[in-house]
Amino acid sequence: MVIAVDGPAGAGKSSVARAVAERLGFTYLDSGAMYRCVALAATERGIDINDGEALGSLARGLEIGFDGKSVILDGEDVSRPIRSKEVTATSSRASAFPQVREAMVARQRELIASGDYVAEGRDIGTVVSPDAPLKVYLTASEQERARRRAAETGEAVERVMAALRVRDARDSGREHSPLRAADDAVALDTTNLSVSAAADEIAGLARERGLA
Ligand code: DC
Repeated sequence: MVIAVDGPAGAGKSSVARAVAERLGFTYLDSGAMYRCVALAATERGIDINDGEALGSLARGLEIGFDGKSVILDGEDVSRPIRSKEVTATSSRASAFPQVREAMVARQRELIASGDYVAEGRDIGTVVSPDAPLKVYLTASEQERARRRAAETGEAVERVMAALRVRDARDSGREHSPLRAADDAVALDTTNLSVSAAADEIAGLARERGLA
């Protein structure tokens, strides 16, 4: 069973989804990390980031695992390199190809079927698990989302905001599984909400619905 947490970059998905999983004793699934692994592997192996077929067959062959806090790609801890600025940009491009999405969605469904998960991403409630019994769509103002990312990376807010806009436009405007809220998602604006308050709210909804 899965609680779906979708939304744009910087809306607080990772911290909030992780905190919800902790509160409920569920496993946290970071689907964005999987797309980041595809982008990292493509760069390392010299695969053209515009070649959907090549990226798809790469994606199908990758061994991606989660080991507590670490992301493991083909046996190697890639938790840090997948967060680089380059991988952040290329993962958004790679994730637009249906061949890549098919491979990742199949993996995500396998994982979700194996236990109780809080999964965060862009299409968990719309595509990966449209039957999820609780779907949350996290948002925050553009300014706040950029501020959070800048605080993480140490870059200037203005630069982060420019990159965020490009990524938002690509993630929301792509043809295959664009970012959007599921019709039955609960919208939660985290602009003025702490991680712990947002997690409490979602965990409360899960309990109300008898999920935990
Ligand atoms: O959530 P994130 O920033 O780690 O995601 C990196 C990229 O992966 C993001 O720009 C869009 C893509 N992504 C996606 O297309 N579908 C998901 N479920 C998760 C991420």
